[in-house]
This record gives sequence, C-alpha cells and structure tokens, in this order.
Amino acid sequence: MNRSVGIIGLGYYVPDRIITNKELESFVDTSDSWIIERTGIKERRISAETEATSDLAEKAASAALKDAGISPEQIDLIIVATATPDMAFPSVACIVQDKIKAYNAAAFDLSAGCSGFVYAMITAEQMIKSGLYRYILVIGAESLSKILDWKDRNTCVLFGDGAGAAVLAVTKEEYGILGSHMGSDGSGAELLKLPAGGSRMPANEKTVSEGMHFLSMNGNEVFKFAIKVMGEAAVKALEGSGLTADDIDLLIPHQANIRIIQSAAKRLKLPMNRVFVNVDKYGNTSAASIPIALCEAKDAGLLKEGHIIALVGFGAGLTWAASVIRWCKEDRTFA
Ligand code: ACO
Repeated sequence: MNRSVGIIGLGYYVPDRIITNKELESFVDTSDSWIIERTGIKERRISAETEATSDLAEKAASAALKDAGISPEQIDLIIVATATPDMAFPSVACIVQDKIKAYNAAAFDLSAGCSGFVYAMITAEQMIKSGLYRYILVIGAESLSKILDWKDRNTCVLFGDGAGAAVLAVTKEEYGILGSHMGSDGSGAELLKLPAGGSRMPANEKTVSEGMHFLSMNGNEVFKFAIKVMGEAAVKALEGSGLTADDIDLLIPHQANIRIIQSAAKRLKLPMNRVFVNVDKYGNTSAASIPIALCEAKDAGLLKEGHIIALVGFGAGLTWAASVIRWCKEDRTFA
C-alpha cells in the first residue's frame, strides 16, 4: 500500500535547571572558552533529582498530542528512543503509556543511542504504511545527567537532559517521509557505552567504586566516526527520496558538537543558514536532540509547507540514521 506518512504533531520538554559553562568551571577543571570553542555548547538543562526520563517524556508526549489534536486513546503504539531509561525494565514507553492514559497503545523502547529518534520514526512509518497502525507516538527522551561522572571533564561538559515527541500518521500524498537510511557498526560498540549495570558487568561495590556505572566515551574516535557518517547518511536518504542536497531547505542534525554539524553541512555543501543549531542551549541530549530541534525549528517558523527537511543522527552502537521529509504545515490526518 502506498501511503505517505508524516508528522502531524510535535512537542518537547526540557527541565528548568540550567547549568552554564561558568557553573561547570566551579567544580570541574574546564573553561567556558574551551567548551565553546571545541563544542559550541554554552549551557545545558539538567533534570531534578526526582525527575526520571519518563517524566520528561510524558510532558513532551502530552504537548505533541495537543499539537496533533488527537486524544491519548487514539494512539496505537508508543516508541520511546532512549539510552537512559528509568530502569532496565519495564520500558519507558509502558510507563508513559500509563501516565498519559493511552489505554489502547502497545509500547516499547528502542535503543540506538543518539540515532534513536530517527530509527523510531522510520519504524513507526513502516507500521503505518503497512496498515497495522493509524497513530504512533514517537518519543526521544534522555536523562544523561544521571549517568555522567560530574568529575570527568571529558564527558560531563557535553551532555544534557530533555525530551521531544512526534505523532505520526498518514498524511497528504507526496508529503511526509520521502526517504530514509539507517546503519550500524557494532565493531565500534566499545567507543561509547555504559559499562556496568547490565548482564556483562552486573552492578556491585567494585563497579560503583570504579565509576563503571558512568557513561564512558572515546571522544576522538566518536568524533571521527561522526564526521564520516553524518553527511553520507543524509546523502543516502536523499537518494532514496529522488532528491539532492540542493533540495534541502533545512537540515536538522543531531546536536552533539558544532564542529560535527559544520562538517556535515560542508559535506552537503549547505550554508549554515539552512542548518538548525541549538547545541549551544542544550548540549547533546542524545535521542531527544533531533525532536527538540524539530520543535524549535517549527516554533521559529522555519518549517514551511512543502519544505524539504533532512534529519540526520549518529550515536552509540555505533549507529546512524537519516530521513528526508516534505513538510506539510497543517499536517492533520488523511487516513
Ligand atoms: N575542558 C578543558 N579541557 C578539556 C576538556 C574540557 N572539558 N575536555 C578535554 N580537555 C582537554 C583534553 O584533556 C586534552 O588535553 P591534552 O591535550 O593535555 O591531553 C585537550 O583538551 C584536547 O582534547 P581532545 O579530546 O583532543 O579534544 P577535541 O577537540 O577532540 O574535543 C570532544 C573533544 C569535544 C569530546 C570531541 O572529540 C567530540 O565532540 N567528540 C564526539 C563526542 C560525541 O559526539 N559523543 C556523543 C555521541 S552520540 C551518543 O550516542 C550519546
């Protein structure tokens, strides 16, 4: 069946608490100028002690449902992309299902690091295209602050918390998702991981005393990988859409580092005024970064009817994913 599937509603939530680079300077050996020059990040949001990923996800989901103009009962499936679930199980998606009273929805989490939101969106698209489901809520939500070693300047300056959500449904013909690409390279699994707390290294006194329950990353290798795959993934998704980089009105890349974003723009020969950037305000919010950026781009009036929007992410796994969307402004359901 040849249905077009698109985003009919968007919402996001970021915690109130802001940690600026200046504040970081007060407890870790870093500087505002180093962080800005090497990453483009000025500040990040940090969830409260009592706030877990599902709490952020719930708020983003409720906003997206309101924007879509549909009720929670109409949702058939909830997919939450996250690397920082409330706990190993049950899934964040099930907790959100209960919180928002989406009584008719199936629910599961998806683990693909920072590529997770695009992975989840592509999964949802196929389930709607096949006719299995009508409305799917896709959420990217993270509480990375809870798995960071706040004494490790190599990682703690880079990440932040937040959530973004999108409702997907059948949309106007030739609008919505035009083409996508997903990839992975598990040989890079060691480069970015949470070593302890799983079945490989169950949590115990030793893992805690050695800080093995904190995010561990080989920043330089991840950087090289990101530079390589960001542009390539977008090109593959464009090829699948029958478009070229010239057609992109707005690139919404994963917000990890301004230098990685600039290199993707360069690879696609796109001027930076056609690239959305908010890494300065939020740092890297992993699976939440693309949907938060999408929401902010929409609020800024940058998503116009017929615009070609390219989403591209990379992350732990290693993984990468891109989607090209023809934006439909009043994208309500055509099912
Ligand atoms: N403040 C001050 N100095 C620092 C800091 C800091 N916060 N962090 C590192 N440095 C120092 C290093 O110790 C090093 O000092 P040395 O030369 O004396 O050894 C120096 O700065 C340079 O370090 P590099 O690691 O070479 O710095 P680089 O320019 O490569 O930037 C960074 C590091 C920002 C981590 C970069 O490699 C990067 O962005 N990598 C990608 C990370 C990423 O995107 N991760 C997320 C993936 S997505 C996901 O799934 C979560």
